[in-house]
Amino acid sequence: MTNKTRIGVIGVGNMGREHARYLAAGDLPDATLAAIADPGAPALDWASENLPDTVERFDDAEALMASGKVDAVIVAAPHYFHPPLAIAALKHGLHVLVEKPAGVYVKQVREMNEAAAKSDRVFGIMFNQRTRPLHQKMRELIAAGEVGEIRRTQYVITNWFRSQYYYDSGGWRATWAGEGGGVLVNQCPHNLDLWQWFCGMPTRVRAFCGFGRHHDIEVEDDVSAYVEYKNGATGTFVTTTGEAAGQNYLNVIGDRGRLQMEGNSITFWRTSGSVREFTQTTDQAFASPETWRCEIPVEKNADGNEHRAITRGFVAAIRDGKPLLASGDEGINGVQLANAMLLSAWTDDWASIPTPEEKYYELLQEKIRTSAANKKTVTGKTLDLTGTY
Ligand SMILES: NC(=O)c1ccc[n+]([C@@H]2O[C@H](COP(=O)([O-])OP(=O)(O)OC[C@H]3O[C@@H](n4cnc5c(N)ncnc54)[C@H](O)[C@@H]3O)[C@@H](O)[C@H]2O)c1
Repeated sequence: MTNKTRIGVIGVGNMGREHARYLAAGDLPDATLAAIADPGAPALDWASENLPDTVERFDDAEALMASGKVDAVIVAAPHYFHPPLAIAALKHGLHVLVEKPAGVYVKQVREMNEAAAKSDRVFGIMFNQRTRPLHQKMRELIAAGEVGEIRRTQYVITNWFRSQYYYDSGGWRATWAGEGGGVLVNQCPHNLDLWQWFCGMPTRVRAFCGFGRHHDIEVEDDVSAYVEYKNGATGTFVTTTGEAAGQNYLNVIGDRGRLQMEGNSITFWRTSGSVREFTQTTDQAFASPETWRCEIPVEKNADGNEHRAITRGFVAAIRDGKPLLASGDEGINGVQLANAMLLSAWTDDWASIPTPEEKYYELLQEKIRTSAANKKTVTGKTLDLTGTY
């Protein structure tokens, strides 16, 4: 009997293998890889060839959960399975770390959150990008009120370029039935999470999506969304997997200036005082508030360690009750945003946030029913995930 936390990885594809590798290599001193589960033969073959014999292998997640061999699981199966697998694991008394996105539609994620709230188990989500010093600094500056009351947010993430080969590499990808969405569900969960982590949740959205605009797929690969916040602030969110040379920047504009996050830097154009006050009190017709350009120091990313850092935090929460950097229940926010954007595009109308979850669910089912997707799949390929997180 080991006194390490025994972890089972459920879903051993691109991402699950990465979790299995660092756990099996002993990168986390307080945790060990005890088991894996995957219904697919390629995953089980990979496990036989690459993992120590001490790691139990299951072709069924439920059997792993019932085995008594694990204290906790990492759920790295395709998105639709995250909530049902997490709920089942919680029922077995296991701690759960779920991959992003929390799920495909709000209704199933809410049910997962309710199950977690009723249990006394640790429930985390793999928002590995929250570990980046860059992102922590942005959150810190906004929370400290440096930029003042937010008036506008602008997030452009057009550097998620993906080829047709990528979309053909897995049968479940980029279909309503298999993945439940495109760029909003697969690539953007990190950005949607960071956006709300920094700036809070908007109350409604009007979005325009291109479905298969750049690729031979049925789901969205191009999104332009306009949101409104409770305090009257507005925001835009633009993303695609079909554009080069892509960009990735976020502007947060408030009453005390503009914060711009781009690459690994944050530039703060700080106003000498409140913009609102200046607007009301100046006696000049064409003057604008004095601004000072400040380069905010940001530590370098500890490359390649983000997933380990989230899993280490999860293990510390299990063992010592330490707070999680990304609590599982927060995963619903990004799903709310993604669902609301798709709902707005489908209905050609505003969508409120929180999303009308039954309506969204029904329309998603209709997309699945009427889907013409019949994918030609590039089989047997494991994708190199370097640089995609
Ligand atoms: N945090 C990140 O940076 C990051 C990066 C990549 C992928 N992901 C997430 O990881 C998840 C998996 O993505 P991937 O690229 O590894 O996909 P993948 O297709 O390579 O692997 C999925 C694996 O899950 C298995 N599976 C399917 N149904 C299952 C079930 N019911 N129980 C157990 N296993 C099941 C499949 O056989 C396959 O081996 C996705 O939700 C994705 O969003 C997260």
